[in-house]
Amino acid sequence: MIRSVVVGVGSELPQNIMTNNDLAKFVDTSDEWITERTGIRARHIAGEGETTKTLAVAAARQALSNAGLSIEDVDLIILATSTPDHTFPATATEVQAELGITKGAAFDLQAVCSGFVYALTTADALLKAGQATCALVIGSETFSRILDWSDRATCVLFGDGAGAFVLQAQKGGNAGILGSKLRSDGRHCMKLYVDGGPSTTRTVGHLRMEGREVFKHAVVNMAENMLEVTTAAGIAMADIDWFVPHQANKRILDSTASKLGVAREKFIITLDHHGNTSAASIPLAFNHGLQNGLIKRGQLVLMEAMGGGFTWGGVLLRF
Ligand code: ACO
Repeated sequence: MIRSVVVGVGSELPQNIMTNNDLAKFVDTSDEWITERTGIRARHIAGEGETTKTLAVAAARQALSNAGLSIEDVDLIILATSTPDHTFPATATEVQAELGITKGAAFDLQAVCSGFVYALTTADALLKAGQATCALVIGSETFSRILDWSDRATCVLFGDGAGAFVLQAQKGGNAGILGSKLRSDGRHCMKLYVDGGPSTTRTVGHLRMEGREVFKHAVVNMAENMLEVTTAAGIAMADIDWFVPHQANKRILDSTASKLGVAREKFIITLDHHGNTSAASIPLAFNHGLQNGLIKRGQLVLMEAMGGGFTWGGVLLRF
């Protein structure tokens, strides 16, 4: 049986850090309000010359080096992003060129904050189908470029960054992706959206959100999905070693953990220092767990996300 094994992980954050106090200098907000309502203390903001592509390339290089593999090994790149460098071509092809990869396929995938679990599931299916042997799965975002910096209800929540996994198709062994479940419900598409686009306004637009609605659906959808993924794989929730959720809001994660009856200490949380980086947040948190000796080989990790669309989904991995 072919399994998609995570053989390398990498991540990248822009140099420039914006704390809550920095924000409060030009937005009517406070460190106290942001920390209490979200758990976020700072976010990284892409500077001149830093784009979704450059962050993705840095994360991908680190993941390849972590895997001990080279560009010759990669025959698939899937880049999850809602903030591409250009409307087209896919930023994934720009990353492919920058890395010097000339074989295989590269494409972008857009499922907003659920992008990374959607991309992992797609890569897993393509590897299992024999379409590719080694995939770079990247989440990279520059949400700072689509924020309305005069809207305090949204601009305090997001940041920029990238993370990447190298997935290799391997036969035998018990490591790899054990199961996943993707969902969406387009009836909620206008609860979290960007008010521009090439085919409507011909502009890029700004992020708009009904925060309370998103919050409510996030807890219910993520908890249900996590149960579905573990049950289908025949794994008890109690046997999961680490939960690596999308990093949107600490209160969403606290509520999800208590709804599932799971110890909060098993949730890897990094949103305090980088805010919501959309599709990049799961690999960023995963790499944090890895670099800090929390996530170890052989452990069971459940990744879970929910985002605009609404989209949501989970991926169960034996690392
Ligand atoms: N600073 C100070 N005050 C603020 C701020 C701010 N940054 N933003 C809003 N307020 C004010 C509002 O104006 C309002 O004031 P009023 O009572 O005088 O009208 C008050 O705070 C309460 O506003 P609410 O929007 O009701 O605040 P709420 O408790 O719902 O918190 C928040 C808002 C943090 C956005 C919350 O709804 C939330 O976390 N939602 C989830 C959204 C999210 O995480 N989205 C990420 C993308 S989706 C995903 O990734 C899952």
